[in-house]
Amino acid sequence: MRGRGRGVTREIHPSRPPAELPDDPEEIVARILDAERRGELYPLYHRLRSLAPAHSTQVAGLPPGCWMLTRFRYVDRVARSPAAVNDPRTAEVFNHGGDGGAFYQLMRHAMLFLEKPDHDRVRRLVYKAFTPAAVAPVRALTEQVAHELLDAAQPNGEMDFVEQFSYPLPVRAIMRLLGLPYADQERIEEWAWDFSRAGDPMSATPEIVERGNAAARGFHDYFERVIEGRRSRPGEDLISALVTAEEDGGRLSREEAISTCVLLLQAGHETTSDLLGNALVGLFRHPSQLARLRDEPELLPPAVEELLRYDTSVQMSMRLIREDLRLDGVTLPAGSIAALVYGAANRDPEQFDRPDRLDLERRPTHLSLSAGSYFCLGNALARTEIQAGLRVLLDRVPSIRPARDTFVQRRTARLRGPQELMVRWDA
Ligand code: HEM
Repeated sequence: MRGRGRGVTREIHPSRPPAELPDDPEEIVARILDAERRGELYPLYHRLRSLAPAHSTQVAGLPPGCWMLTRFRYVDRVARSPAAVNDPRTAEVFNHGGDGGAFYQLMRHAMLFLEKPDHDRVRRLVYKAFTPAAVAPVRALTEQVAHELLDAAQPNGEMDFVEQFSYPLPVRAIMRLLGLPYADQERIEEWAWDFSRAGDPMSATPEIVERGNAAARGFHDYFERVIEGRRSRPGEDLISALVTAEEDGGRLSREEAISTCVLLLQAGHETTSDLLGNALVGLFRHPSQLARLRDEPELLPPAVEELLRYDTSVQMSMRLIREDLRLDGVTLPAGSIAALVYGAANRDPEQFDRPDRLDLERRPTHLSLSAGSYFCLGNALARTEIQAGLRVLLDRVPSIRPARDTFVQRRTARLRGPQELMVRWDA
């Protein structure tokens, strides 16, 4: 993986309590968005939630007046409300400099940003393609890829967990599910990396934006050709299922099919890769839980739910509020934008007992995969990939531990995950 950019150093086991936190909600929001000044994220969420659980902010990097929602029941309510939608206008944050570049064009055709009822139509068609037959191979595929990656790394007794395991694992698994050949792996991984960096508007420099546009053009032309081929000669893969899925005689248009392929690839890999990284950091911070998971693999399914809750990769999403929406004493007016801060909702003490504690037996109902009409379409895939990846990892390298006292955190705000996490194990 080429040049992942600058990150920030964080401690594996934070030894100091976080510094004095400000009383001004705006200052807290500014820190949440600023990776350099952020420090530990969750104390900031706790502070904001206790000061103003629905807070309208003017901090740069978010739409003006955007409502930061940090209380579980607020985020849950808005996520499930038909009056709160993902709208093409929420994709405007990707229209860097207003030039309508290739990256923005792909995003605005992606299901996530389509207006209703188009969103629901495309979602139903894509859902149809997620047939049990199309996704059944995912566990075996992920395990196979995990073994290949560890075969390459194991003799060294040390690796960068992100570069050598958690990043390539889901990309390769989703590529195989989509039926894309091994030979294309390198360029897909490069495009995927450039594309995802441009997807975090708060850290996008002009160079990142340009690379994101180049990646979007690369993806567009690539998938256009692949889709053409599958329409004439469908196979057993997910792209064939996508292009042949039908409802009331309707199918995905060419642009919808292309954007959906990119969305599946992107939504399907970076989120999972970041989650695996966060999970390992969380387990390193709770060694007794790591030991339990290693010794009791049957704990994996509930453990993955708790790891999703504890430190999720998709920290926030935006919704356009179409009709006035009341949350206790606060009204989110029609036309405003709300940020559903999933990461904060998942640590709300009103919802979870001792929310900062990782407890693999908790069996939480979390919001990491959202809720309502945008509930993550890839939830089953994500859960299976994380379970399979952790199972192979703990089986093959049970003595895995941090190789350093620190790791490098990505500088992103919406997505969260380590950029570099050096680990070692006994040979
Ligand atoms: C740990 C891994 C993952 C996490 C944390 C995650 C999280 C989410 C979240 C929070 C949303 C809602 C976005 C919003 O609120 O606007 C979402 C939507 C979506 N996810 Fe995931 N996701 C993960 C993995 C995957 C995978 C593996 C796939 C597919 C291959 C996938 C495909 C999608 C799609 C297509 C949507 C859009 C749904 C729609 O517009 O109706 N995700 N995901």
